[in-house]
Amino acid sequence: MRIAVVGLGKLGGPLAAVLASKGNEVLGVDVNSEVVRLVNEGRAPVTEPGLQELVTASRERLSATTDFAAAADGEVIIFLVPTPSDERGAFTNAYILAALEGLGPALQGRDDYQVVVIGSTVMPGSCDSEIRPALERLSGRQVGDSLGLCYSPEFIALGNVIQDMLNPDMVLIGESDPRAGAVIERIYSGVCENDPPFRHMAIVNAELTKIAVNTYVTMKISYANALADICERLPGADVDSVTDALGLDSRIGRKYLRGALAYGGPCFPRDNKAFAVLARDIGADPALAEATDGINVAQSERLARIVGSRLRGGNAVGVLGLSYKPDTGVVEESPGVALAGLLARDGYDVSVYDPVAVDAALRRLPEEVHGCASAAELLERSDVIVITTPWPEFADLPLGSLNGRAERRVVIDCWGILPEDRYREEFEIVRLGRPLEDRVQAETGA
Ligand SMILES: NC(=O)c1ccc[n+]([C@@H]2O[C@H](COP(=O)([O-])OP(=O)(O)OC[C@H]3O[C@@H](n4cnc5c(N)ncnc54)[C@H](O)[C@@H]3O)[C@@H](O)[C@H]2O)c1
Repeated sequence: MRIAVVGLGKLGGPLAAVLASKGNEVLGVDVNSEVVRLVNEGRAPVTEPGLQELVTASRERLSATTDFAAAADGEVIIFLVPTPSDERGAFTNAYILAALEGLGPALQGRDDYQVVVIGSTVMPGSCDSEIRPALERLSGRQVGDSLGLCYSPEFIALGNVIQDMLNPDMVLIGESDPRAGAVIERIYSGVCENDPPFRHMAIVNAELTKIAVNTYVTMKISYANALADICERLPGADVDSVTDALGLDSRIGRKYLRGALAYGGPCFPRDNKAFAVLARDIGADPALAEATDGINVAQSERLARIVGSRLRGGNAVGVLGLSYKPDTGVVEESPGVALAGLLARDGYDVSVYDPVAVDAALRRLPEEVHGCASAAELLERSDVIVITTPWPEFADLPLGSLNGRAERRVVIDCWGILPEDRYREEFEIVRLGRPLEDRVQAETGA
């Protein structure tokens, strides 16, 4: 099938390559000529595991352009442009509408059957209220005749985008009519390697399902973090024992039920906020989403307090891990960056290190924060070390760098990745979600 993908970013880049790898003729369209050049040179437009291999393998079926008129040749045209949040937390459709301004006129007068697909995350109701009228006005065609409109979002985690696209738990298709949805099902049937269930529905239901999935998952994360906070104050408690058993209940499930750090990244925090805005705007109860967000925001302070309770005289804290999760360089809403910022604000001597995200993080941090060139340098400089992103390499800390400093260092291992037996001599290892006597004593005056 001939498919145009409008927006070749963190999602559109991988989707274009995945579609081409399954035999489709794919044309990427982006306003960024650098991204277009990379694709046409056979190079991955964004960093994502497995993407370069797919782009290389699909070169003859994958090209890119800045010319929207060329995209109008697609049998299917998929939009994956940004939908940034406004100051209230609602997603804006400005980029989608701008891209439609480019594409719409080139769709005029065609009589071949085409389907426009919105893959970006939008406020529920957007396709019916804003996108469909704009598409019809700009193309001079009515949705339902020779033009279909679908909303079909991706459910992916950065760092695992390709695998998630190939093996989704479900494919969600909001459709203007069954004919449009059938075209999209045909495409994804040819892409998915795990035979997932397809769910066809009215577009507004798909728009709502997309953010409802993410707000449900964030609610689980905040729930586990609230449990961790309780366990840290309850003698003998261990959040991992509790969540391990809790997750065995088939009504609950084990995924994303880990008492550790805040959720971050470009989706979870803002999807949750948008859900609360939606509820508030239409007179529904936003309490659940707002509580989830409030608990999440409180996690950085919780961690900063734990760090403060572990410093004995020294003032130097090292934050190991700045991307919001492993296998990505994205630092948006990252717990490591938030912690480093709070500690710097409070006057600590803060060092940071990450395998890929030091520069991106430093751009968001006060200038007194020191960016290290290696984990070894960070270990040397720090009295307390906090592992905030579970990069596999942090499970293997360079002990050689501790030479010359006799005192036992404290490592706050937020994700429980350090083998405690191996490091017991060098480090006092603090795990989250277990009683933190010093902190409780300090706070209660006990
Ligand atoms: N990144 C994620 O983890 C993720 C997950 C699920 C959903 N989403 C949603 O997918 C959408 C895209 O997200 P992303 O992370 O890929 O964004 P991104 O910022 O990484 O990429 C967007 C791309 O669109 C291009 N672009 C901007 N305006 C354009 C226009 N008018 N015409 C053509 N191209 C244009 C940009 O140059 C960029 O290459 C957003 O709505 C986002 O909420 C993202």
